[in-house]
Amino acid sequence: MKSTGEKIVALTAYDYPMAQILSQSQVDLILVGDTLGVVVLGYDTTSKVTVSDIVHHTKAVARGNDFCLIVADLPYGSYTTEKLAIENARLLISAGADAVKLEGCYPQITESLTQHNIPTVGHLGLLPQTADKFRVYGRSVQEAELISQQARQLESSGCFALVLESITKKLASKITKSLNIPTIGIGAGSDCDGQILVLNDMLGLFDRFKPTFVKHYAELGITIKDAIANYKREVRENIFPDSNHTYE
Ligand code: KIV
Repeated sequence: MKSTGEKIVALTAYDYPMAQILSQSQVDLILVGDTLGVVVLGYDTTSKVTVSDIVHHTKAVARGNDFCLIVADLPYGSYTTEKLAIENARLLISAGADAVKLEGCYPQITESLTQHNIPTVGHLGLLPQTADKFRVYGRSVQEAELISQQARQLESSGCFALVLESITKKLASKITKSLNIPTIGIGAGSDCDGQILVLNDMLGLFDRFKPTFVKHYAELGITIKDAIANYKREVRENIFPDSNHTYE
């Protein structure tokens, strides 16, 4: 897709019904991201997500999917050594992931994973597992050079794709042109080889905060509240169940 210029369409998903919808919509890639912790499990940070959480949700996604490539996140603390990374990545692959993703530049870990036949996606720029501040990365020449260099290192160490989060469009564009592997941006502008959004964000199902790069393609939170309000009213007023929804 990178070579033909067709943009890669990626979204996160964490459960069976959404995986079915994404699969039927022929999205290219589903990420069982550790954003799970924030948008589904109600934690204030992704760093509380465990390998078991990702395994549990990857299994559900895999049951609903028969089209998309499934990538599962290695959560915080699960890839601190090569041995641990391989053990945990194997758990995610056994749960139904086709590949794993890890945050930051750890070329030795990436190399080890790929040598053990575990396809690996990198993730640079904003790294939510460890970031002390959510901001735009790569504005200074120094930081931009560091991220570019890390991107090249991750490609050389075996990553087959790279997520770029919350970096300037200029830097994402430069990195995308300099790599043979595809870049998938989130808050990284339109020049990446593909785009990813957190499903609950783009469907309007998460309202605790909204970064600039999030676009709502639906307001399902409002739709669901309206449906529940209708149901509540009909039950209170004894309108539901009517004869069409009753066994005589
Ligand atoms: O965990 C996640 O959902 C992610 C995306 C923000 C790319 O890593």
